[in-house]
Amino acid sequence: MGLGVVNLPTFCLEGTVEEIFYKKGRPKVVILKTPTGRVWIKLEKSLRRELAQVPKVGDRLRLEGTVKEKYDGWVKQYQASHLEFLATAQATAARGSQPCRVLICQKSSCCRRGAKELWQELEAQQLPITLKATGCMGECKRGPAVVILPQKKRLTRANAQQIRELVCSTEA
Ligand code: FES
Repeated sequence: MGLGVVNLPTFCLEGTVEEIFYKKGRPKVVILKTPTGRVWIKLEKSLRRELAQVPKVGDRLRLEGTVKEKYDGWVKQYQASHLEFLATAQATAARGSQPCRVLICQKSSCCRRGAKELWQELEAQQLPITLKATGCMGECKRGPAVVILPQKKRLTRANAQQIRELVCSTEA
């Protein structure tokens, strides 16, 4: 019958960790700085238990979950059930004065294979990178062709997840 089951509104927020509150050594609440302001987000118990990597101040995260409204919508309680690292503070610091640049071929063959959409997706994720359009890199049939600098890493059939992982990785 589904009695008692309430479908709460969901949220998906991206931002930088400003502060973390812990319980028994595990992060319980994360304050995320988002383009629209600071948001308190409680991590669900199951998420806290499963975390393979503990977030730190300065990390860029994507958090998804549900929102409870109290007092006629005046108070919103965010509870996250999913956490994804977009970039770690360590990776950003390791790059130091050399900001990560992602060159994406914007010529017709790569555009037919999703180079424009890739650009838009990366732009929307607000990663700590600079996007730069380039001409043909000779990988037309295996586009979108991408080069990540300063690592000089070349990618073909590139997608946003691959690029995000390389940017997040300290070795990248
Ligand atoms: S068109 Fe993109 S590599 Fe040639």
